[in-house]
Amino acid sequence: MISKKMENMVANSSAIRAMFEEGNRLAKIYGAENVFDFSLGNPNVPAPEAVKKAIIDLLNEEDPVVLHGYTNSNAGYEDVRQAVAESLNGRFGTSFAARNITMTVGAAGGLNVILKALLNPGDEVIVFAPYFGEYRSYVNNYDGVIVEISPDTATFQPKLDEFEAKITPKTRAVIVNTPNNPTGVVYSEETIKKMAAIMENKQKEYNTDIYLISDEPYRELAYDGIEVPYLTKYYANTVVGYSYSKSLSLPGERIGYLVIPDEAADSENLISAANVATRILGFVNAPTLQQKVVKACLNEKTDISFYDRNRETLYNGLKELGFECIKPEGAFYLFVKSPVADEKEFCAAAKKYNILLVPGSSFGCPGYVRIAYCVAYETIVNSLPKFKELAAEYKK
Ligand SMILES: Cc1ncc(COP(=O)(O)O)c(C=O)c1O
Repeated sequence: MISKKMENMVANSSAIRAMFEEGNRLAKIYGAENVFDFSLGNPNVPAPEAVKKAIIDLLNEEDPVVLHGYTNSNAGYEDVRQAVAESLNGRFGTSFAARNITMTVGAAGGLNVILKALLNPGDEVIVFAPYFGEYRSYVNNYDGVIVEISPDTATFQPKLDEFEAKITPKTRAVIVNTPNNPTGVVYSEETIKKMAAIMENKQKEYNTDIYLISDEPYRELAYDGIEVPYLTKYYANTVVGYSYSKSLSLPGERIGYLVIPDEAADSENLISAANVATRILGFVNAPTLQQKVVKACLNEKTDISFYDRNRETLYNGLKELGFECIKPEGAFYLFVKSPVADEKEFCAAAKKYNILLVPGSSFGCPGYVRIAYCVAYETIVNSLPKFKELAAEYKK
């Protein structure tokens, strides 16, 4: 018998994964070119050439015992953490040192480490719908309680009045994700400043520490030159969770980092706790070869012009067909209003045309569907006539 907790988690296990498996099944029947699988956020732009070169150079030149060994500190190699800190300081005018950086097993690993470090059972973690559904499981892992803020479907910026009302003495953390999965929205500087002011006031009112966790695997995927604010500059108790999964197209390599600034409350203990959490969650340390790879590739970026072309073609194509959606400013997702209230019904209708979409309820926002456009350009172009047939079903 598996545990009660896992029984529930298995029962609620990700609809996104199920869709992905459905995509594979349909591809076998109809041929991959006739299936429009928009279900998974798996980058399809290859990692920059520099990544391959770095791996080969490291394998040829570094001491294999060091390269494949455990790191001395569970937080990762000192030189890698120092290089990450300096790179951030150069980009954002911050003043981080190696001690402020903990290398992690992707953003998912980083979120689990920081939540493990912060949460007591019953502590509340606020999230803004729509949000990455895995947050529910991560918070549940440490017996925290998710508190959802309902979506503002006009802009998909956080609803700040509801946010203020839902902060309680038990609020331990607030997770934001910008550029956002699933909307592609970037939270504006104005929004961030207002959020920071609300949290400062509530901390004083309740005499508590409320941590802002900025989950930012999509930071580098921002279009039209839009600025993505660096949140440690607006609110002292900010922890940043970064990942190279999307920025360097390395999701399978499981590499990222946490930034825990000195300004954060109880930062020394929090840094130590993150170090121990990395070890006892069973990660021990982030993959060592990949730590060295990202150090060598700190100035590299994935080619976002590819995603941008998909974004323009899909957004314009769907708008012309009468679908309602806001134009994503970052990431590689489009969040489209379902023409019927029950978006699962719409997803089922789309499947008749071999179009795979993820229901918005997976992100705490029913009535919408997510399209992941990190696919071949041809898939976008060839899907539009199918979307046209799908749209026609709702115009009768
Ligand atoms: C918002 C968000 N956070 C975290 C993750 C996990 O990413 P990683 O591969 O870095 O663990 C994802 C992955 O899609 C994501 O979309």
